Formats: sequence, structure tokens, C-alpha cells
Amino acid sequence: MIYSRITGTGGYLPDNVVTNKDLEKIVDTTEQWIVERTGIHKRHIAREDEYTCDLAEQAARNALDMAGLSPQDIDLIVVATTTADQVFPSTACLLQARLGIHGPAAFDVQAVCTGFVYALSVADQFIKSGSATKTLVVGAETVSRIIDWTDRNTCVLFGDGAGAVVIEASEEPGIISTHLHADGAFEQLLRVPGGISRGYAQLQEGNAYMEMRGNEVFKMAVTTLGRIVDETLAANDMQKSDIDWLIPHQANIRIINATAKKLQTPMDRVVVTVHEHGNTSAASVPLALDVAVRDGRIQRGETLLMEAFGGGFTWGSVLAKF
Ligand code: COA
Repeated sequence: MIYSRITGTGGYLPDNVVTNKDLEKIVDTTEQWIVERTGIHKRHIAREDEYTCDLAEQAARNALDMAGLSPQDIDLIVVATTTADQVFPSTACLLQARLGIHGPAAFDVQAVCTGFVYALSVADQFIKSGSATKTLVVGAETVSRIIDWTDRNTCVLFGDGAGAVVIEASEEPGIISTHLHADGAFEQLLRVPGGISRGYAQLQEGNAYMEMRGNEVFKMAVTTLGRIVDETLAANDMQKSDIDWLIPHQANIRIINATAKKLQTPMDRVVVTVHEHGNTSAASVPLALDVAVRDGRIQRGETLLMEAFGGGFTWGSVLAKF
């Protein structure tokens, strides 16, 4: 049996920090409301000339360094993003060129906040089937570009960033199972209504920004993430106590708390970074993973449950031995 083992992690946040106090100056909100309702203290926002691929490159290089690999060792690149630099080439191809890699497959995956979980699952299938051996999986976003900065319902929640992992074929686990879901019926609750096929003109008419019915999304996220935890454990005949670390999508501390409660996991076994950078969409799970690997909390051989929920709706989980 071939497994995919995580051999390197990396993260990158833009230098520019926007605090809750800064947001008080641009929308009708308060630092206290943001902290109490979301747990977010600040977010990192890319400079005007800093794009998703720039963030992806930094995170990817950090992950390659930890894995002790050079870019030329990589035989597949999968980038999860909803905020690509260009219509095409894909951000994965742009990243490939930056890294000086020529030839191996490179493509983007779009599942919004579940994007990294989707991308990791896809890369895992390539490794398990023998189609790839050393894969770079990146979640990278400049969510700030699809935010209406006059909308207090959304602008306080999101930030920019990138996270990456290198996964390699191994006889030892490794990724144990992945679980992906989607239900397009909920498009109205969370979306950017404009897009390329509908034309650039209507994008400029204000359809280019995120619309969200936050409270309804919140309730769906809590119940759906509870279900994916149960599904993942049942599929592997595991108990809640078998999970060493919960690495959740970092959208809102209250959603994270609810999932931890469902898993009966104490909060010191949950990796929380949402206060540092808000919701970075596809970057949030790999950013959290990288923080806890680098600060020594996550140790080799421990069992990790990564989960995410996002626009689509999409949701999913990855169970892995680190
Ligand atoms: N500052 C101050 N007040 C705000 C605000 C802000 N930034 N944003 C919204 N409010 C107000 C609302 O207008 C509402 O006012 P009203 O009662 O006068 O109508 C009030 O706060 C409560 O809004 P509600 O939506 O019920 O609050 P909530 O407890 O659900 O928290 C969110 C709002 C957005 C933080 C929460 O719903 C959430 O996190 N949703 C999920 C978002 C998410 O994760 N999206 C991405 C999924 S990957």
C-alpha cells in the first residue's frame, strides 16, 4: 500500500497588517464586536502589487525547505485558490514557472474555503495510484480582492495568505482517508455573483464582491462540520479520543469551538490561528498546520484531523498520521 506522507509544511502572510481598530475607521463596527463574534484580532492584506502567486511561492519554498527537496524533485503541483492572478494560465502553472519546474502536471482546484482539503485529497489520489511521488499542494488566496470594503458583514472576517505542504509516497501512513462533499443548492448564502463568463462589464457593476448571509452560513458550517467529523471517524473505525490534533478551517472561533466540542477535544488539542489572520479561505488549514508543526506542538506519528467548510457549499476532511 502506498501512502502520502506530509514531509514539509510552509506558510506565508503578507507584511501589511489591518487591525480591528483600523476597520473601525472604515465601517460601522467595533473591535469588541469583531473579537466577541469571530475571535479575529487582525488580518494580513496583500499590497496592491502582491498577488496570490507571490504568496503561494513563499509558502511553497518554505515547505520544500522543510522537506529537504529542491523544486526539481516535485512531480505534481496542485494549487487551491479562488483568487487566481490571471484567468489563465492557472496559478499552479505560474507557480511552476517561478519555481523553475518544467514538465510535471500543474493545475488549480477551486473549492473556496475547502480548497486545500480538496487539493490535498486530489494529490493523495495521484500518489496512491502511483501517478506522482513528490507533490506540492498549496492553498493561496488574496481574498481581500473579492471583499466589498464597505460591507461590515464580510470585510471584518477575511484576510490574505498562503500555506503549503509537500507530500511524498511512503510505505508508512500518511494520509489515512479523505472525505469530500459539495451541495450547490446553497449558492445564494455565500457567493461572488459575477464571473468571467458573465462578462467583465457586469463585474464592474458591483457583482465582483462576496455576498454572504452570515448567520445561515454559520449554522450550516457548525452542523456540517459536526457531521464530517463523525463520518471520518466512522470510516476508519476510530474513536474521538484517537485524534491527537484537530486542525480546523479558521473562519470563526465560535465555529471552531463547536466542532471541538462535538469531537470532545480540549481546546489545547485544537490548532487555532484565526485570531492572527482571520479567514484566509484555502490557505487557512495549511497555515494552521504549519504553525503547529513549526512550534513543535505536532509531533511525528500523531493523528491529525483537518476539516473545512466553504462556498459551494463544499466541505471535507483529511485524516492523517503526521
Ligand atoms: N460589526 C458590528 N455589527 C455587525 C457586524 C460588524 N462587523 N456585522 C454584522 N453586524 C450586525 C448585524 O447587522 C446584526 O445586526 P442586527 O441584529 O441589528 O440586524 C448583528 O450584528 C447580528 O448579526 P448576526 O448575523 O446574527 O451575527 P452572528 O452572531 O451570526 O455573527 C458572523 C455574524 C458573520 C460573524 C457569523 O454569522 C459568522 O461567522 N458566519 C459564518 C461566516 C463564515 O465563516 N463564512 C465563510 C464560511 S467559509
